[in-house]
Amino acid sequence: MARKRVAILISDRGSNMLSLIEAAQRPDYPAEIALVISNRADAAGIDLARAAGVEAMVVPSRAYADRAAFEAELTRQLEAHRIEIVCLAGFMRVLTPAFVAHWRDRLINIHPSLLPAFQGLDTHARALAAGVTEHGCTVHYVREGVDDGPIIAQAKVPVRAGDTTETLAARVLAEEHRLYPAALALVAAGMKPQPAVSEPDLAAIKLP
Ligand code: GRF
Repeated sequence: MARKRVAILISDRGSNMLSLIEAAQRPDYPAEIALVISNRADAAGIDLARAAGVEAMVVPSRAYADRAAFEAELTRQLEAHRIEIVCLAGFMRVLTPAFVAHWRDRLINIHPSLLPAFQGLDTHARALAAGVTEHGCTVHYVREGVDDGPIIAQAKVPVRAGDTTETLAARVLAEEHRLYPAALALVAAGMKPQPAVSEPDLAAIKLP
C-alpha cells in the first residue's frame, strides 16, 4: 500500500515532530513525512526537520491580515505538496471551523493530558493542582472545539509524590513520543473516527 503523505504543523521545539519523522524512516511505516510547516520563523523544529532531510517551510501567521488568509496559504501549500494527513504537533494557533472542516478526519493533534480532562494550556500544573493520580497524553481528530474531537489513542503515566510540573511534563513527553507515531500509523492505515451511536441505531438495539 502506498504510504500516506503527511505534513506536520509546528510552532516551536518540534520534539513530537521529530518522533514522527524518526518513526516514518522505518520502511514498514504506513506514512511518510513530506512537509513540515512552522508558523514561526524562530521555531527550533525547522532546523531539526531539515537536518533529518524533511522539507520545512515557514508560513508566518503574523504576516497575514487574518486567520482565513493565513489558513488559505497553509492549505495551498499542503495541497501543492499532495498532503493527505496533517499532524498538529505543538502548533499554537487556533484553527477556524472552515479549515477544520476542509481537513476533517485528516487532521490530528497531540495534547498533553488525558482528554477530556485538562483541555487548554498548562495541563501539567493543573493536573498537579487537581491532585490526580494519573495523567498522560491524547492523540485525537481535530474538531471545531479546542482540544476536542474523537480520541485515537491515549497513554497514561502515574503522578508521583514530589512531582513538579517539569518532572511530570518530562514523563508525559516521553509517552507522547511513543504515542503519536503509533496513532499516526493507525490513521495512515485507514482508521476512521467511530461515529457516535445515533437515535435510529439505538432503537435497533434489542435489549435482552
Ligand atoms: C507537546 O507537549 C504537545 O503535546 C503540545 O505541545 C507540546 C509540543 O512539544 N501540544 P514539541 O514541540 O513537540 O516538543
